[in-house]
Amino acid sequence: HGNGHGGRGSLRFTPVAPNTDDKLTVPAGYASVAVVRWGDPVLPGAPEFDFENQTADAQAAQFGYNCDFVTFFPMGHNRGLLWVNHEYSDETLMFRGYKDGTSATEEQIKIGMAAHGGSVVEIQRVGDTGEWRLVTRGRRRYNRRITVHTPMRFTGPAAGSDLLKTAADPSGTKPVGMLNNCAGGTTPWGTVLTAEENFNQYFVNGNGVPEAQKPYLSRYGVSPTTGIPSGSRRFDRVEERFDLAKHPNEINRTGWIVEIDPFDPDSTPIKRTALGRFAHEGATTSLAADGRVVAYMGDDSRFEYVYKFVSRKRYIPGFDRHNRTLLDDGTLYVAKFTGDSPAAEIDGSGKLPADGGFDGSGEWIPLVTGNVSHVPGMTAAEVLVYTRVAADKVGATKMDRPEDVERNPVTGGVYVALTNNSNRTPAQADEANPRASNKHGHVLEIAERRNDAGATTFAWSLPLVCGDPKDPATYFAGFDKTKVSPISCPDNVAFDADGNLWISTDGNQLGANDGLFVMPVRGSERGHLRQFLSVPVGAETCGPLISKDQRSVFVAVQHPGETDDASPETPSSHWPDGGTAQPRPSVAVVWHTGGKKIGS
Ligand code: FEO
Ligand code: CA
Ligand code: CA
Ligand code: CA
Repeated sequence: HGNGHGGRGSLRFTPVAPNTDDKLTVPAGYASVAVVRWGDPVLPGAPEFDFENQTADAQAAQFGYNCDFVTFFPMGHNRGLLWVNHEYSDETLMFRGYKDGTSATEEQIKIGMAAHGGSVVEIQRVGDTGEWRLVTRGRRRYNRRITVHTPMRFTGPAAGSDLLKTAADPSGTKPVGMLNNCAGGTTPWGTVLTAEENFNQYFVNGNGVPEAQKPYLSRYGVSPTTGIPSGSRRFDRVEERFDLAKHPNEINRTGWIVEIDPFDPDSTPIKRTALGRFAHEGATTSLAADGRVVAYMGDDSRFEYVYKFVSRKRYIPGFDRHNRTLLDDGTLYVAKFTGDSPAAEIDGSGKLPADGGFDGSGEWIPLVTGNVSHVPGMTAAEVLVYTRVAADKVGATKMDRPEDVERNPVTGGVYVALTNNSNRTPAQADEANPRASNKHGHVLEIAERRNDAGATTFAWSLPLVCGDPKDPATYFAGFDKTKVSPISCPDNVAFDADGNLWISTDGNQLGANDGLFVMPVRGSERGHLRQFLSVPVGAETCGPLISKDQRSVFVAVQHPGETDDASPETPSSHWPDGGTAQPRPSVAVVWHTGGKKIGS
């Protein structure tokens, strides 16, 4: 026990108590530091960050805003590349006196555009510890910024379809830039998968599209009766393509999984149409028993679905040219969850049914295989571009905002973070989404048949129904609820090398800051959830990433200081620079100061 190889006792840190402190709080014996902050130079020659004198040119060469997904590619023991998503910009915190996109200066709009996308940065280990720092000198040949303006290409069955053609790209194969990249994953061949999520918010004049397109626009969260939505960033003021009345298909070119090779800064990012189009939270890969590549994905909106893609061909280690075609040809499935308890016992209260568990069976319903649609009345291209509409037609299960979906590399279990759903009514409660007005969310565990990621049927259960453990409508896999941490709004999931489940939160509804939690998923400690860190005021916790050597936890601190009425004149956070500094979204690293394994 406690020998660092999993099982009982391997997690022995003292949990962080819920708090509202404006700092990154870590357990006793641990330290943290911001590795890379909004505005830090990424490209050699980029200027130092200057909050009072921002320019779009500078931002396009500096670390972007609102870091989300984080992953790490080692280059030996002491160096590596960090990939980081920049989900969105918060102009009210970025600029003094900012009111809205209509009154913004064009330069401010362009800075916001350049603050989106992603970054590749080189980092180096400090001494022989778990601490890492940004490499700030020398060639940094892999450092890269991806923005709203980076040329990309479509591949897969929908590439070149009429639905993806625009005046600027009559081929329908050359989208420009990516938007609102939230979470993501990596592939077995060493590339990044980054997910375009709430792309709907960037487009104006939905009332101007052709009538036939309006139901689809509406299904994807854009009002077909509104011209300029309130809060719009007005990208259309500097680039006409964001005006739907002029370019109705441009929006179809966002909402995809984008593959990026961090080791080739000249490579063209690829939007993989075979993985469908929706508010992609992320995409994480695993291998089926026969070697096919599987990507698990959530669509993060209320009453949306859980998906997986299974490639037609197998992954062949080392055969790079072959492997890089795998995500273009396969089957896209959507999940249906069936409960095993009588419907009358699922009343929306969150009370456990008589059989003692929210659980049941499920199936993966195929939507499209290669160029062949399985949905009557829709072509393969239509299924891929309007995936939500296709999933509606086959009777998939409407979930409480599916965020990260990831397979445990040790046990093979698949975990789905369902962050919350304020709109579910008692009549809409089902065993997989058992609480009405679900404020705190839950976590769903899928056991694929024969523990094969390529299976088309599965068993499922809810190991975690979140909230204050004193609330009877919570569940921690049956573990003693007097010994667990409160948790609310699970968003990202990750695993350490022992198979412990790490969960970061976004939007804590229990009155404390968001945080990062860890929970064993097997053995007598299953359900023993503990808070490992909390983030500063107004922030959500993203990443997270536990390094393979288990000595470092990387966490993205997204939107510190994003609270009601906060502005540069009245900041609610000064993290990470402290004093009177403006808040800066940053990736931090946490390590044990005695060099011990994370969780010790
Ligand atoms: Fe961007 Fe679904 O969190
Ligand atoms: Ca049951
Ligand atoms: Ca997220
Ligand atoms: Ca979220």
